[in-house]
Formats: sequence, structure tokens, C-alpha cells
Amino acid sequence: MVNIAVFVSGGGTNLQALIDKINGGYITGAKIAVVVSSNYKAYAIKRAEENGIPYRVISKKDFSSIEEFDRAMLDVCEEYGINLVVLAGYLSMLGQGFVSAYKNRILNIHPSLIPSFCGKGYYGITPHEKALEYGVKITGATVHFVDFEYDSGPIVLQKAVEVKDNDTPEILQKRVMEEAEWEILPLAVKLFCEGKLKVEGRKVRILP
Ligand code: GRF
Repeated sequence: MVNIAVFVSGGGTNLQALIDKINGGYITGAKIAVVVSSNYKAYAIKRAEENGIPYRVISKKDFSSIEEFDRAMLDVCEEYGINLVVLAGYLSMLGQGFVSAYKNRILNIHPSLIPSFCGKGYYGITPHEKALEYGVKITGATVHFVDFEYDSGPIVLQKAVEVKDNDTPEILQKRVMEEAEWEILPLAVKLFCEGKLKVEGRKVRILP
């Protein structure tokens, strides 16, 4: 059984997609053992409660150093025997200690086709605003392993989404979530749980 920790900060729609895909049997041999939110107000917490999933709130600003924050996050993961961490709309930067402890075992979903519209400050609605400003014809979502920089680890899956003439950032964000994020994040988790992801330098090979 793969014990998953899902880290959240907001609405939790990607968390909900994972819950639904596990409950529906698409993802097997895994369970969400704990949800960790960076803030008390995240609606994702309500989703955890409604599905009987234990949750914690750990806010980086409550710690005097990144090392102490890392320790608190690692303690929760050790308590629940976590094998895989999934960042699902999570907005805090994890420290080097945490990332090293879970090397190639932290998946993040980012709402653009990395390396476009990513990096520090590119979260929430911003990637979609920048995509529309630039005038791209396609955007999409990326699942990648987390390393020591924002949105820069080896790419696991990507899915393209069409940008339409009258899109607003909000309309585009919704289409990217519905058509890409909520599909490729559960698929990446499924592949990880089936042992089918092989990291080779910057590349991730998907085994048959
Ligand atoms: C999504 O666009 C996700 O890609 C980004 O944060 C947004 C909200 O995610 N990381 P969620 O609804 O909280 O899962």
C-alpha cells in the first residue's frame, strides 16, 4: 500500500480528483493517509473532513527557520508512513531537507506547459493571465517531480489545452483544470504507485 500525503493551500479540486480516482478504483494500492494544508481557511480541508481523511495545518510562518518547518513536515510524513507526497495547489516552497528526504517522491501539478509560465510567482491565476497576455494558442498542465527550485524538476506528464479567442484568465484556468490537471495528476499518481516511473537525469521514462 502506497501511503500518500497531499499538501494543499486552496480549493482542493486536485485533491478531490485524487480522492475520486482512488474511490473509483482507477488508482489502486494507494490511499491518502493525510492532507497537510498551509492555511486554516483552505476549502481543501473540508474535502478531507468529508472523506474521513486526517488533516493537519502547518503554516511556514509559524516557524523561525526553514529547517524547523522542514522538521515539522517530515514529522507528519513519518507519523503516517508516507511514501509519496503530492503538491495539489500547494503554495509554500519546501526546504532542501524535505525535498532531499523525498527525492523523486514528490509530485507537483503546475497549470502551464513547463518551461513556459512557471517559476517563482507563477501560481494560481497568474500562469493563465501571462499565457493570455503572450497570446499563446495552447497552454496546459504539467506534473513534475519536485526538486530544489520552483517548477523545475523532471517532467512526468503534460497535457495541452486550447486557448480560445474570448478566454478570460478564469475561463482558461477552469478549462485547464477540467481538461488537464484533474486527468494527468491522478494518472501520474497511478503510474508512480504501479512502479512505472523511472527517472533518468532530467527525463522520466514511463515503463510499460
Ligand atoms: C490549480 O490551478 C493548480 O494547478 C494550482 O493551484 C490551482 C488550485 O488548485 N497549483 P486546487 O483547486 O487547490 O487543487
